Amino acid sequence: MNKADILVVEDEHIQRTLLSEFLAKEGFQVFSAESGATAREVFRDKAIDIVLLDFKLPDTDGLSLIRYFKEINPEVEIIMITAFGSIENAVSALKAGASEYLTKPVDLDDLLFKIKKIEDRLYLIRENMVLKETLKERFKTEEFVYSSEKMQEVASLIVRVARTDSTCLITGESGTGKEVVANLIHALSSRKDQPLVKVNCSAIPENLLESELFGYEKGAFTGAVQRKMGKFELADKGTIFLDEIGDMPLILQSKLLRVIQEREIERLGGLHPIKIDVRIIAATNRNLEEEVKYGNFREDLYYRLNVVKIELPSLKERKNDIPILIDFFLKKYNDRHKKGIKGISKEARDIMIKYDFPGNVRELENIMERAVVLARGEYITTEDLSISQVKPGLAKDGSIKDVVGSIERDMIIEALKKNNWVQTKAAASLGMSERVLRYKMNKYGISK
Ligand SMILES: Nc1ncnc2c1ncn2[C@@H]1O[C@H](COP(=O)(O)OP(=O)(O)OP(=O)(O)O)[C@@H](O)[C@H]1O
Ligand SMILES: [Mg+2]
Repeated sequence: MNKADILVVEDEHIQRTLLSEFLAKEGFQVFSAESGATAREVFRDKAIDIVLLDFKLPDTDGLSLIRYFKEINPEVEIIMITAFGSIENAVSALKAGASEYLTKPVDLDDLLFKIKKIEDRLYLIRENMVLKETLKERFKTEEFVYSSEKMQEVASLIVRVARTDSTCLITGESGTGKEVVANLIHALSSRKDQPLVKVNCSAIPENLLESELFGYEKGAFTGAVQRKMGKFELADKGTIFLDEIGDMPLILQSKLLRVIQEREIERLGGLHPIKIDVRIIAATNRNLEEEVKYGNFREDLYYRLNVVKIELPSLKERKNDIPILIDFFLKKYNDRHKKGIKGISKEARDIMIKYDFPGNVRELENIMERAVVLARGEYITTEDLSISQVKPGLAKDGSIKDVVGSIERDMIIEALKKNNWVQTKAAASLGMSERVLRYKMNKYGISK
């Protein structure tokens, strides 16, 4: 936002000039009025953000002027100036809609402080309006739902960072929406018509990850019968999303660091580096600071990635998002499964709001989808909620993926228990690598 436009309404010439000049020097666009009548005129003509209003004017009283301003622009911020000691005036001004008041003689530092505070508030309101508009216009496929203050801040950060090319690191527990946020940043950026390429660093076996990322030349290794482009090259001019970055092996971390610094990659077996123009977004549900301490994550890479950090709060920390998410997924799955469900009973909603959702938004989404599919009546009731048994996909009528997932989950838990939760052993007995095991444990929300 540019600096606020301020209207100074004050009948005393010296005071008016003093305030106007002071604010103009601070870089604000300043208008001034010596009477109520002029003030109304200026206010109608200009887009005023903040009014500095003397309570006592020759032709009108401050209160009716406040009401007038608020009627024309409900978002205008008014700072009232009252004579020293007239508390009643200050109180009635605040009641009429002024947001701050100062007493004469005006302390200029205090004035500036209050204006800055208001500017921050105006800025946030505008960012949110911009976000909503942008979302409505340009982002119809992916939905991002929230109402909590914490998520409003996240949303405002997303909008601001999307416009830049900064590398960002998205952190948050499993299911909090890290991938949704990565999608959003890309879709709101100037790269939106270019590819968004996603790599899940923990799902790809360690020995394949490097060639996945950087590609290879024909003959680089046995089996490399053809040149293959890596994900970085595929993402050229666009965005690469490095998911589960905390699981990237150390050797690759140093290669990634070089890519970020040099903005070029080398294919396996390649002779020349290739210039690339890629915006990097990374995500993790691990605490990278701790991983750095334990030597599992390179500190220099951490700082390179952490240029902008977006921390997604767990759903437990923003319970007032639950109702809007319930309604959103209810509608989504009601439409998808063509059910005629009209809503959710109050008891069912209350249970949801009280629940802690260790699997965060993903778990809420799963619960709602199952409830919609299972519900027999027009309203979802407590019986339709599978909250006590927090297992995904236990329904006999679930999709193959759900059922397989559920079996896999049970097998993993069993293997872990049998091996006293020693992941190396459990992984070996399941015939999977430890990294894949960790990935699956995250996915299914399995922990000791
Ligand atoms: N604010 C939101 N509004 C609507 N849907 C959301 C929101 N946040 C998350 N979701 C949905 O919840 C599910 C999980 O989100 P996502 O995959 O982005 O989580 P994640 O943080 O990447 O999880 P993981 O760490 O397990 O990969 C998705 O289906 C996503 O669409
Ligand atoms: Mg994810």
